[in-house]
Amino acid sequence: MNHTLAWRLVSGVKINHLCTPRIAIPSKAVTGSQQVREFSTSYKRSTVMPAWVIDKYGSNEVLRLNNNTEFPIIHYPNEVIVKINATSLNPIDVNMRNGYGSASLNMSRDPLNVKTTGCEFPLVLGRDLSGVVMECGLNVRYFKPGDQVWGAVPPWKQGTLAEFVVASGNEISMKPKSLSHTEAASLPYVTLTAWAALVNSCRLNKQKCPGKRILIIGASGGVGTAAIQLLKAWGGHVTAVCSEDAFSLIKDIGADEVIDYKAEKLEEQLKSKQPFDVILDNVGGTTEKLALQFLKPWSGATYVTLVTPFLYNNDRLGIADGMMRTGVTLSSKVVKHLCKGVHYRWGFFSPSGQSLDEIGLLVENGQIRPVIDEIFPFSEVPKAFSKVEKGHARGKTVIRVTESSK
Ligand SMILES: NC(=O)c1ccc[n+]([C@@H]2O[C@H](COP(=O)([O-])OP(=O)(O)OC[C@H]3O[C@@H](n4cnc5c(N)ncnc54)[C@H](OP(=O)(O)O)[C@@H]3O)[C@@H](O)[C@H]2O)c1
Repeated sequence: MNHTLAWRLVSGVKINHLCTPRIAIPSKAVTGSQQVREFSTSYKRSTVMPAWVIDKYGSNEVLRLNNNTEFPIIHYPNEVIVKINATSLNPIDVNMRNGYGSASLNMSRDPLNVKTTGCEFPLVLGRDLSGVVMECGLNVRYFKPGDQVWGAVPPWKQGTLAEFVVASGNEISMKPKSLSHTEAASLPYVTLTAWAALVNSCRLNKQKCPGKRILIIGASGGVGTAAIQLLKAWGGHVTAVCSEDAFSLIKDIGADEVIDYKAEKLEEQLKSKQPFDVILDNVGGTTEKLALQFLKPWSGATYVTLVTPFLYNNDRLGIADGMMRTGVTLSSKVVKHLCKGVHYRWGFFSPSGQSLDEIGLLVENGQIRPVIDEIFPFSEVPKAFSKVEKGHARGKTVIRVTESSK
């Protein structure tokens, strides 16, 4: 069986001539007289690529570089295949490696629950991408092969710690020309998360931000550094909570005031500040309890946290009971705080090429710049995971997938 031919017939996608995916050795050589067109309904493919995969959940040892990972297929007409030059890691990658969120993510991958347990493996982690479009589905109008793009794919899809990935045309955007691929890969996931929290949950934007006082807790990591720059680009007043050794970085990207959460009790330090219109909490836990009292009551002020029990509840209790518990927790908190005159929200990453188009303009204007903590080559992905797992990020950990990441 000529698997490549079968793949083309089944997927309706031709292999792009620009890319040169490695071809697995066929089981049988086909001689001239044997050349017959065979049709297969199997999804088995014979083109392969290198990718870091996991075959089970666990600690860093489960990460495996597989040079024979199946080449991704375009399934829907709005999808594109991107050759990845660079990607970056986020805490979600470490958490997913450990199995966090698997109940909910498997439901998104297989809503009818018809596949066997473990069908998500081999799983490719990594959400961010910066690279080049290789192939476009029939309905893709906005991109063409050869376009340099950046984006972030949602966690239920195969990830970007690979040479190629399939993304929806709605999840990517033209990469800002002023950034190298390595720089561009540091921004999409964290900037889109900050965007979702600030724009969707707190209704902030260019028009509404000037004059607003915003507190960011956990300011020195990926989301914090993105959020500070977004808010400063829109004219907000930003107070950032971080460790003292991050002060110069945080001031350099525009924060108006900085608070060292390790110096003395955060609560005491916040008491000396004027109340806030918006609080973005990237830390959660005890900070949630103490932060809410520092919002201006009865003025539409909003607290949004990125640390929520949504996926954890589903992992622990199953989807039905987990959703019920999540609904009860969220609604009781919303009502409790509404009675005190403030809004309580949960923020979630949301893939959006359209938001990235706008973020790209801010990058081109010099209002948002990449904050990169460390860059690792593709061969050292497990080291990069160890680094992210230790915490204490100062911006992003980036992976160079191909050497030409400029
Ligand atoms: N809901 C969603 O869709 C979503 C999306 C993205 C991220 N998240 C979550 O949001 C959180 C932040 O993400 P991230 O990418 O920014 O993580 P990150 O890059 O690891 O950054 C976390 C930062 O918080 C600092 N920090 C730790 N404890 C702190 C405290 N008590 N007060 C102030 N700063 C503290 C850390 O530095 P030091 O420890 O050195 O101070 C580090 O710089 C993570 O928990 C992540 O899982 C959720």
